[in-house]
Amino acid sequence: SEVLPYPRIKVATLNDLQSGAFGASYPDQFSPIQILKIGKKVPGGVGPDGDIVAYSGLCTHMGCPMTYDPATKIFVCPCHYSHFDAAADAMLISGPATQHLPRIVLEVEGQDIYAVGAQGLIYGRPHNLS
Ligand code: FES
Repeated sequence: SEVLPYPRIKVATLNDLQSGAFGASYPDQFSPIQILKIGKKVPGGVGPDGDIVAYSGLCTHMGCPMTYDPATKIFVCPCHYSHFDAAADAMLISGPATQHLPRIVLEVEGQDIYAVGAQGLIYGRPHNLS
């Protein structure tokens, strides 16, 4: 079967991240993501300070949309309270999920932030692209 390339989509600008987080979707409208400015250099971080990352906004347990707290850098799932550490590769901290959050691969060009790929399976999908 044909291998589909990930789309390259502008998902935010640097200015959008002033509050620490900005919501968009990728690779399509059914997959919410959060683009984050962590405030210190982090693994996989891009941009002028190496601190911009993005993750799927859907919990890996059963797919609930999560909330993100810029103060603690933690994603919290309202359904069964899984917690994920956005400053550490969106690793699972606690709760019934067993997998960390899929990373959305970003590129920064001037003021613009593009999503260009995803690592890890977005909840509910046999493949990230279909
Ligand atoms: Fe998130 Fe269950 S769906 S913890």
